[in-house]
Amino acid sequence: MPVAVITGGSKGLGRALAAALAGRGWDLVVSARTAEVLERSAEGLRGHGTRVVAVAGDVTDAGHRAALVAAAEGLGGLDLLVSNASVLGAEPLVRLDSQPLAGLRAALETNVVAALGLVQEALPLLRGSGAGTVIVISSEAAAEAYETWGGYGASKAALDQLAAVLAVEEPGLRVWAVDPGDMDTDLYEAAVPADGEVRPTPESVVPGFLRLLDRRPVSGRYAAPALLDRV
Ligand SMILES: NC(=O)c1ccc[n+]([C@@H]2O[C@H](COP(=O)([O-])OP(=O)(O)OC[C@H]3O[C@@H](n4cnc5c(N)ncnc54)[C@H](OP(=O)(O)O)[C@@H]3O)[C@@H](O)[C@H]2O)c1
Repeated sequence: MPVAVITGGSKGLGRALAAALAGRGWDLVVSARTAEVLERSAEGLRGHGTRVVAVAGDVTDAGHRAALVAAAEGLGGLDLLVSNASVLGAEPLVRLDSQPLAGLRAALETNVVAALGLVQEALPLLRGSGAGTVIVISSEAAAEAYETWGGYGASKAALDQLAAVLAVEEPGLRVWAVDPGDMDTDLYEAAVPADGEVRPTPESVVPGFLRLLDRRPVSGRYAAPALLDRV
């Protein structure tokens, strides 16, 4: 069975994607900082009959990243790495004139530095897979200038560029930066609390990811809602 590592797999988009892959028979390694929530979520995934290893930890910790890849190796290898765990850098989001610099550093550390660290750790296994794939979760805030989304958006723009260069340097892999569009999750609620808007569920964007995996289009950036149409 193919093996995926999904960071931030305890809730939101990461959990929805993990559930869909488990439903297709993938073996999974899932990660998040909050051990109880992660374990509950992993238990639900095991209901699909696949092997699920839950590794609690912070992606900014090199030891945690090594443990994720070691767990994948224990399942037989690594075919898909989904770098999904992210932080906002300010909760709620604020304009750049008051963006805490420590928050921006934290966003860069989690959303960019840790994502690259995990790729570096995972590359030997991904190169050895017949269909090695990296998905990094981007955001519309990486490409558009929305008031208050500057710090987080800058980190996602940097992540997009890492993915684009990785795709050039690793032509044997597929590397997709995917903007899932706005979703009703804890992250969005923390970014813009109680704004009264109704947003799509994370589950509703998962078919776009599955289509990417099925069709394996060229490496590049794919954005919702066109995700379902473009691939
Ligand atoms: N929601 C949206 O509208 C939206 C739009 C565009 C892009 N995105 C992107 O979609 C992805 C998923 O976000 P979501 O909306 O699904 O958020 P979410 O429901 O809040 O889930 C975030 C996940 O990441 C984990 N996490 C956060 N920081 C971590 C760290 N340092 N180390 C390990 N795990 C960590 C969280 O668990 P713990 O807190 O327990 O660690 C949780 O499992 C993110 O990359 C986000 O930027 C979201």
